[in-house]
Amino acid sequence: MIKKGFIFDLDGVIVDTAKYHFLAWRNLANSLGIDFTEKENEQLKGVSRVKSLEKILQWGNKTLSEDEFMENMARKNQEYLSYINKMDDSEILPDVPKILNYLVESKQPISLGSASKNARAILKKVNLFDTFDAIVDGTNVSKAKPDPEVFLNAAKELKMNPEDCIVFEDSVAGVQAANNANMISIGIGEASVLHEADYVFKDFTEISTEFIQQLIEK
Ligand code: BG6
Ligand code: MG
Repeated sequence: MIKKGFIFDLDGVIVDTAKYHFLAWRNLANSLGIDFTEKENEQLKGVSRVKSLEKILQWGNKTLSEDEFMENMARKNQEYLSYINKMDDSEILPDVPKILNYLVESKQPISLGSASKNARAILKKVNLFDTFDAIVDGTNVSKAKPDPEVFLNAAKELKMNPEDCIVFEDSVAGVQAANNANMISIGIGEASVLHEADYVFKDFTEISTEFIQQLIEK
């Protein structure tokens, strides 16, 4: 049987948590006297929690002591978790279950490849924790996307060669990470933003099971 490794980013691919990151970062930035709009939020997609706060401080020309930095990161995450705790499977993005079910039925190995340290909690909230054969997230990686580490670790967990893996990503850094790992990259979002991806779809409603089958057989 032909097998490919299918690796999914979480935020913006499986669930639309970008809106919760936005609310929590905006409140935090505003409390520091820093403006924060959707435009800035876009630049934080795929970016780790530490790097995100560093960027916000840079935009606002602010510096914090190490203790203040840690305290602000914790405060942001506390608010973010208050949104996450209210999530359920209605927040899974359209047609994601269609593709996941197809992969499960065709016995293809599936991994998560996310920068988030909250990934396991979110997967449990939306009832997808048991769907994945492997979970690689912000707690298992040291180098942030576009470094390929997260996806290479996922391939290793699935016992697949990187060239036989396919990555679904909504961020530019994530698409670059997949390309850097020598994997097939599938961008989920705007083609103008994700032009480095091998394929781009607006969302999973545009992805057919025939297309997935072609990827498996390629
Ligand atoms: C990524 C998100 O998946 O995870 C980023 O796109 C986020 O916006 C990053 O900053 C880290 O997430 P967390 O949950 O560990 O703060
Ligand atoms: Mg993402």
